[in-house]
Amino acid sequence: MNTILVTGGAGFIGSTFVLLTRQQGLARVVNLDLLTYAGNLMNLEALSGDPDHLFTVGDIGDRPLVQAMLERYRPRAVVNFAAESHVDRSIDGPEDFIQTNVVGTFHLLEECRRYWQALPAAQRERFRLLHVSTDEVYGSLAPDAPAFTENHPYAPNSPYSASKAASDHLVRAYHHTHGLPTITTNCSNNYGPRQFPEKLIPLLIVNGCKGAPLPIYGDGLNVRDWLYVEDHCQALHTVLDRGRVGEVYNIGGNCERSNLEIVRTVCRLLDQLDPAPARTPHEALITFVKDRPGHDRRYAIDAGKIQRELGWRPRETFATGLNQTIRWYLDNPCWLEAVQNGSYRDWIERHYGTNSAGPAATPTAPVRS
Ligand code: NAD
Ligand code: DAU
Repeated sequence: MNTILVTGGAGFIGSTFVLLTRQQGLARVVNLDLLTYAGNLMNLEALSGDPDHLFTVGDIGDRPLVQAMLERYRPRAVVNFAAESHVDRSIDGPEDFIQTNVVGTFHLLEECRRYWQALPAAQRERFRLLHVSTDEVYGSLAPDAPAFTENHPYAPNSPYSASKAASDHLVRAYHHTHGLPTITTNCSNNYGPRQFPEKLIPLLIVNGCKGAPLPIYGDGLNVRDWLYVEDHCQALHTVLDRGRVGEVYNIGGNCERSNLEIVRTVCRLLDQLDPAPARTPHEALITFVKDRPGHDRRYAIDAGKIQRELGWRPRETFATGLNQTIRWYLDNPCWLEAVQNGSYRDWIERHYGTNSAGPAATPTAPVRS
């Protein structure tokens, strides 16, 4: 059976990837997610009753669990999204980042290596470990510097990016030393439906709809390169199908915007789509706040390699992607309310009888979301 093991598949990008994979009938998905604060099973509600989406609560660092899942489901690929992903949280409390992003990835690699080495030759040849990483590992760009290529030196500046850089190096080493068929992707900032409202764009939408301040760090002139999340996920499928083993592919939207441009565009769209007189114009809500420590000034991705070699290009423009994103948040008040009042986490207690999202010690019977 054509099965892939997705880790972190209840988070923002991972759930989009799982939904796309199932909606396009590309593979059976076995989904392993620890359900930290960022994991949300409401993201996977559309797959309720789908017998080819199997969900397990657990940690990528739980070796017996990962081993048992690999043996039981025999995936042809593992796609690793599982991570702590928020830069601000990594500044306040880096330990979870080291634990999941570095130590967890190491344990996952060890189990993948063991599983892959025991596969029959044809399946060994076909197996892939796709490691989903970030452009932040390359550090910060000067205003006129060329965009990051795959050969750009690593210079991570936050505990988050340092932990992702460490995981990328481990993945590289497992390919170089053991021949494990890995591919790493480094992607720019994603936006779209179901993103946790701690990240800039959903935070602006959520606060804008409430008439709350729109916090902009420092002078607002930091630049990010924005990509619609479904375009990222299509790129990952392209890489999984046709990417060269041992390679790195940068993925980006060719869409550099300063944070001030972002907030002004979100405000203009909210004025049109949510024109409550008390909150309009939304620009009046923009509030400059203390800068993020070590705040990288600019990221930009050169996506030439994936375009040339694999023919991938983003389908959405920033205008179409942002419009769809804002409409999604306006159309899904239940999702938003559950995320804001914390009730999205009740599912874990109901199904696992625990107050924590702690890992299952042994493989749980797969739970259909
Ligand atoms: P997210 O924080 O929304 O989701 C992360 C998911 O991983 C959550 O569902 C969480 O429960 C799960 N998880 C955390 N620790 C785990 C563990 N130990 N074992 C199993 N599951 C665990 O993150 P995201 O924004 O969807 O990012 C997914 C991946 O893509 C990350 O690796 C991130 O570094 C990378 N990335 C993100 C962006 C972006 O803009 N968001 C851009 C480039 C790359
Ligand atoms: O570049 C890819 C990375 O993009 C991913 O690897 C990370 O997982 C993802 O979180 C994202 O990191 P950023 O730090 O760029 O994203 P964030 O949404 O936190 O911030 C985007 C920009 O907006 C950044 O310059 C900081 C700024 N910002 C952010 C917040 C939350 C504000 O000005 N105000 C805010 O309240």
